[in-house]
Amino acid sequence: MTERFMVTQAPVLIDSRTEEADGVVTLRFDWDAPASPGQFIMVWMPGVDEVPMSLSYLGDHKGITVKNVGEATKALTSLQVGDRIIVRGPYGRGYHVPKGKILAVGGGTGMASLLPAMERITATSVDTAIGARTEKELLFEERSKKTSSNVRVSTDDGSKGFHGNAVQLAKEMMSATKYDMVLGCGPEKMLFFLHKLCLENGIPCQMSLERYMKCGGGLCGSCAIDGKRVCREGPVFTGEELKDMKEFGRQRRDECGGRLRL
Ligand SMILES: Cc1cc2nc3c(=O)[nH]c(=O)nc-3n(C[C@H](O)[C@H](O)[C@H](O)COP(=O)(O)OP(=O)(O)OC[C@H]3O[C@@H](n4cnc5c(N)ncnc54)[C@H](O)[C@@H]3O)c2cc1C
Ligand code: FES
Repeated sequence: MTERFMVTQAPVLIDSRTEEADGVVTLRFDWDAPASPGQFIMVWMPGVDEVPMSLSYLGDHKGITVKNVGEATKALTSLQVGDRIIVRGPYGRGYHVPKGKILAVGGGTGMASLLPAMERITATSVDTAIGARTEKELLFEERSKKTSSNVRVSTDDGSKGFHGNAVQLAKEMMSATKYDMVLGCGPEKMLFFLHKLCLENGIPCQMSLERYMKCGGGLCGSCAIDGKRVCREGPVFTGEELKDMKEFGRQRRDECGGRLRL
């Protein structure tokens, strides 16, 4: 059976709602669809929109962690226990859960995608760098401590931890420790410079990208980057694959296919 035929759609009941940080909410629901770290789902609120969201919790009691940035995410973050959403998926190629000494670097809601991968890495050790603009926007610091031997945080305004961005913090951590693999998820500019840093240090990496998505399942092409579909061949790409992408860190497309500079 191919991955495509394993995709399911279901109405699910929200049974828990947690405010994680400023404007960021985790919604949990029972859904037994098989999923792996780094995969995402399409979340439909009839009458509002359908949007892609990483799975921040796997297993039968799944979860998504949503930042309020616009109409659909405002509606999602306003949902309460007892409300329903319609989910389909899971979609995409997630992280290849690595061996050795791992550095996970998450910016913004990027930690939502990374944590399920970090929680699968049992036989090896993980260090984590979490970046945010301010202390109030830091996400999943306590949850990361359960899987990471060393959790460091950075804030752009210096309100907590390292004063600077997550890539500058990662650079400092790389100078103290030799890592076998870097996992990254966050704003694309951050990933662009993290990828560059990994290349300079000769460390293999995997990074999760975001593009505008309509079908989520490889059919419409709206999520294309350099001829690859982020929903199907990604969202997680290896450092080697990213090296060949001219649009990575430079441009994306809007909902009509128009090119936008990043
Ligand atoms: C694979 C993937 C995983 C994601 N995981 C998360 C997550 O875990 N948590 C989270 O908060 N956000 C996540 N996002 C981003 C989330 O999908 C957008 O923030 C959301 O769609 C914005 O919709 P809106 O109506 O609230 O805002 P709008 O005002 O419509 O848009 C705000 C921004 O989101 C982008 N966006 C809007 N619609 C889409 C769409 N259908 N597909 C992709 N981008 C869109 C716009 O281009 C714009 O840059 C993910 C995106 C992708 C592609
Ligand atoms: S969203 Fe349709 S092909 Fe990726």
